[in-house]
Amino acid sequence: MAGKIQRLDKLISNSFDYSRSQVKELIKKKKVLVNDNIVLTPELKVNPDSDKIVVDGQNLNYAEFVYYMLNKPAGVVSATNDNTCKTVLELIKNPAKSGLFPVGRLDKDTEGLLIITNDGELSHSLLSPKKHVDKTYYVETDAIITDEMADKLEKGVDIGDEKPTLPAKIEIIKVDNSNTNKAYLTITEGRFHQVKRMFKSVGPTVTFLKRISMSKLMLDESLKPGEYRELTDEELCLLKGE
Ligand code: URA
Repeated sequence: MAGKIQRLDKLISNSFDYSRSQVKELIKKKKVLVNDNIVLTPELKVNPDSDKIVVDGQNLNYAEFVYYMLNKPAGVVSATNDNTCKTVLELIKNPAKSGLFPVGRLDKDTEGLLIITNDGELSHSLLSPKKHVDKTYYVETDAIITDEMADKLEKGVDIGDEKPTLPAKIEIIKVDNSNTNKAYLTITEGRFHQVKRMFKSVGPTVTFLKRISMSKLMLDESLKPGEYRELTDEELCLLKGE
């Protein structure tokens, strides 16, 4: 993808931990090189993909997009802004980029894996109904999940929409060979309250819900609810299904 032509000072302050005035000072002190030449004009237009930019001895490695893995806690909403509730974006302190948004929604009381990014194209392809991206949830319910219920959930259930849910995968967590009220459910759609409605349609009420994977990317369980970190390159490939 072609890099965006942009102002040198803006690019440097977005890429390093410098304010615009610090960048201006560095430029004045002749500490900024573009293609091996000292630059004295902060407003110079540069292309971060093709211009070699060195700031105080450090190469500027430009990344257009940023990807955070958040372990969403219960009690915050998956929105960019909200008049009454805290949003997932408010959890990201000093974001590396502006224009961040969550990839899809988890309910306010749902925990787990949520990607926060500024990459609209990736978000679109992960959420597209045509792509059938796997999403796996850890589910606790108010009743034992029977094999019969699991069978129905796997085949697809009527949750009051035009069409039944697409085939899903379920693994009931067993203790001493007996079914429990806990399971992993993998779905390929993203309908409103889908997991809760699927369970309700076969009986039990969901009492706890946590997303543990999206595409081939697993939630890093060392992240406590509310914690986040940038994805590694390998994790980004997993998310893209590569
Ligand atoms: N299904 C639900 O019911 N809620 C979520 O937050 C995600 C999937």
